[in-house]
Amino acid sequence: MTNKTILIIDDEPKFRANLADWLEDMGYETLQAEGGEAGLELFRQKQPDMVLADLNMPGLDGFGVVEELTRTSPETPILVISGVGVLEEAIRAIRLGAWDFLTKPLKDLELLEHTLGRAFERSMLLGIDRLYREHLEEEVAKRTDKLRQLNDALHALNTEISDTQRELLYTLGDVVETRSHETANHVRRVAKLSHFLAERVGLEPEEAKLLQLASPMHDVGKIGIPDSILNKPSTLTPEECEIIKSHTVIGHEILKHSERPLMKTAAIVARQHHEFWNGAGYPDGLSHGDIHIYGRITSVADVFDALTHPRVYRKAWGHERAVEYLQNQAGKMFDPELIRIFFADLRQVEALMASLG
Ligand SMILES: [Fe+2]
Ligand SMILES: [Fe+2]
Repeated sequence: MTNKTILIIDDEPKFRANLADWLEDMGYETLQAEGGEAGLELFRQKQPDMVLADLNMPGLDGFGVVEELTRTSPETPILVISGVGVLEEAIRAIRLGAWDFLTKPLKDLELLEHTLGRAFERSMLLGIDRLYREHLEEEVAKRTDKLRQLNDALHALNTEISDTQRELLYTLGDVVETRSHETANHVRRVAKLSHFLAERVGLEPEEAKLLQLASPMHDVGKIGIPDSILNKPSTLTPEECEIIKSHTVIGHEILKHSERPLMKTAAIVARQHHEFWNGAGYPDGLSHGDIHIYGRITSVADVFDALTHPRVYRKAWGHERAVEYLQNQAGKMFDPELIRIFFADLRQVEALMASLG
């Protein structure tokens, strides 16, 4: 016994019976149907392992059966039985999806057995191939899932690193500003405002982000300035003024050795945040486009925030006064384009600043 069931669809009862006998002798189980419709119905009910279908039958013929089974059950071998001398019919059936053909009358049992064996072998290979592909897909899905998990973990780690980095930089900025009694959150507001201006002036998002992280370090060079000068309540002598101004160069010296883009950005910010558009700033007296855009942006952000918040030596300016000052300094202290951007979206600037106290 092969445990395989073959469905015979043929309108000639005698031929069906003979064929069934032969097949049973070969160890197959058989089912029989006398026409296409009945055959398909039986197929659906019993799910045989192979179908042998006569091509010429009243009602739904063998071609119709081939078409239907090829569509609905492509792994089931379907062999057609055609009359002798009508090879074209057999070819047409094969084009429609039949696996092979037998000719009526069936005489050569060995050939029949061989044809069936070959069809079953091909069917088995198809099944193996499908299982393999399914397994492969499952495997790919599993690995993709694993990769996704890894990726998520990596992403979380990255977020953690950049959050930590940002916190460290803000804290470092805070430490410096605290020494010179800057108001709380000064560096955070400068960071936000710098980012805002950087985006609006057309820097790439990545670069804008970099500037946001780097700008809190603009005054890091003040760690090299003695407290006695930094916090002197009375007017500074010209020499003391020069020492204060040197915080730009000191900051640059501290940061310039790193190859990290963030540190490079911070080095530029530290050196250039007191340069003036008209060349009257320090330490290098650069002007216009010679001042790096990082320096120009941080300058606007730093001054605006400093003016709108109190310092030891003066009260905070009102918002209007600070805004007016900025306007007046366009083309003098500040890059006029940045001031234009600043005023183009003043409401958002105000909202931004308010969100950080
Ligand atoms: Fe400064
Ligand atoms: Fe500052």
